[in-house]
Amino acid sequence: MSATTISVAAPADFHVHLRQGSFSELVTSHVRLGGFSLAYVMPNLQPPIVNTEEALLYKAQLQAIDPTIEYLMTLYLSPDLTPDEIRKAKQSGVKSYPRGVTTNSEGGIESYEVYYPIFEAMEEQDMVLNLHGEVPSDPTSNTCVLNAEATFLPHLVKLHKRFPKLRIVLEHATTRAAVECVKSLGSTVACTITAHHLDLVVDDWAGQSWNFCKPVAKFPDDRQALREVIKEGHPRFFFGSDSAPHPPDRKSVSSPKQACAAGVYTSPILLPLVATLLESFGALDKLEHFVSGFGRAFYGRPAADERVTLRKTLHKFVEDSWALGDATVVPFWAGKQIGWEIVS
Ligand code: NCD
Ligand code: DOR
Ligand code: ZN
Ligand code: ZN
Repeated sequence: MSATTISVAAPADFHVHLRQGSFSELVTSHVRLGGFSLAYVMPNLQPPIVNTEEALLYKAQLQAIDPTIEYLMTLYLSPDLTPDEIRKAKQSGVKSYPRGVTTNSEGGIESYEVYYPIFEAMEEQDMVLNLHGEVPSDPTSNTCVLNAEATFLPHLVKLHKRFPKLRIVLEHATTRAAVECVKSLGSTVACTITAHHLDLVVDDWAGQSWNFCKPVAKFPDDRQALREVIKEGHPRFFFGSDSAPHPPDRKSVSSPKQACAAGVYTSPILLPLVATLLESFGALDKLEHFVSGFGRAFYGRPAADERVTLRKTLHKFVEDSWALGDATVVPFWAGKQIGWEIVS
């Protein structure tokens, strides 16, 4: 018989976009609503968070919105960042996130060398490097969104060989190739998996802009590999939602001159969604390790005392939207039935 309630140690979201301004007020309050108590916050604001001072200011803004969440801040790496700033960042508990690791590519060969002094300092400080593992599309080298991740993997391997002690997280993996690559590397390399990539394949976003995100969801066999590695309980594969809200008029476009924004928004339904998905492929017994234990262990965060309890439900449908002031967001699975709800 299957369980009707399940309790997990306080879930941690190791990749989330909490934005800024009035949008941030709306979406930051959804972290707790979705059952999570730790948020590893992405730095891609406009302008991006590039130093410790900015990261701490941003953290204070998030704390003012919801002081009960533990926020771990990240920096957008750029070649201007100095090893000194890395040392400063470490003291303030600031993590890092590289910008343009894959830009300035020529004929598909990306240049990382410019970042090596920074990676060296990070390795020394035991800071984590988070990688958005996609090469830019380039018709001359036959790269596009479908092979952008697989084409990036040799760079991950090279980086790990050059900096074997540097902890690296390949963010939001979407392919069997990425899963196999990360598995083949040492204990310092880990990987986050989102909820939506456990659900979507190409057909779901080709023609449905709300399901469009980067990296795009790939083939059924790729999705199968993500599910299998969770089912296997591999400790270097853990949860990061990449929940990435955009205003509705940026997600659905009404003119051929506009492009739709990349991002799927899962924060307010997160833990029930992950439970529903894991249950669908027989991995509900791995929920706690996947959303709470493995990520905290890799990042060296203490296990949480708090617990969250979920209950199975036949009556729950995802809200069509959430609003606060003039900000509106539409969640993934809007209007769709979801199998679990948070009770406490
Ligand atoms: C974003 C970035 O790197 O800031 N992605 C991107 O530009 N392709 C954010 C992200 O990777 O989560
Ligand atoms: O889908 C995505 N949305 N992928 C990214 O890399 C960025 C993110 C965002 O910030 O909207
Ligand atoms: Zn990314
Ligand atoms: Zn992201």
